[in-house]
Amino acid sequence: MIVSIAYIVFVILLAVFLILYVVYYSFDLRAFISQAPFVPISKSRIDKILSKARLKSGSTFYELGCGDARVIMHACLKYHVKGIAIDINPLLLLYSYVRSKIYHVPTISFTYSNFYDVSLKNAHTIFVYLLPSALHKIATKFTSECKKGTLIISHRFAIHEYKNRLVQTIDQNGEETFYYKV
Ligand SMILES: C[S@@+](CC[C@H](N)C(=O)[O-])C[C@H]1O[C@@H](n2cnc3c(N)ncnc32)[C@H](O)[C@@H]1O
Repeated sequence: MIVSIAYIVFVILLAVFLILYVVYYSFDLRAFISQAPFVPISKSRIDKILSKARLKSGSTFYELGCGDARVIMHACLKYHVKGIAIDINPLLLLYSYVRSKIYHVPTISFTYSNFYDVSLKNAHTIFVYLLPSALHKIATKFTSECKKGTLIISHRFAIHEYKNRLVQTIDQNGEETFYYKV
């Protein structure tokens, strides 16, 4: 009897642990904690945003928090950049990886990581669509790791620490995108 109660308790605890694990890692909880949940950019805005960036073929394009990778895949396919797509949500990354195979994007690679832990020293262009609190945290990283001339594109939210480095702003139906040079 004691053994079977212990067994039931063990199974219940295991089930609770598994549920918490799946919720934490898959359903955007980590992104919420790091202040940037998955809200994808509208597809109709991507082309203009990238066209203003004057991307060079073969240059390295990072997307910090790539979501379903719609921006970086567009950059790879149209401008032939080398794409480094980073996200903390494994389900989104898996989905993006499958999409990159379906659309035959050879120059993209996916990194499952917290973007605060990824070195940015090889980036020529970095695209972000993050909340101001996350931008505030990552601005210091841009300054300390990016090489001079790296283009930072921030969709919807300005990076206040970078206001002296603003080179261009575009507005698409009230949604702004900010371009900064490190
Ligand atoms: C607002 S969505 C933008 C998605 C995509 N960039 C777009 O424009 O459609 C923010 C993304 O950042 C990811 N994210 C949030 N915090 C992160 C972190 N610390 N490291 C890596 N990815 C993160 C989320 O999982 C989410 O996919």
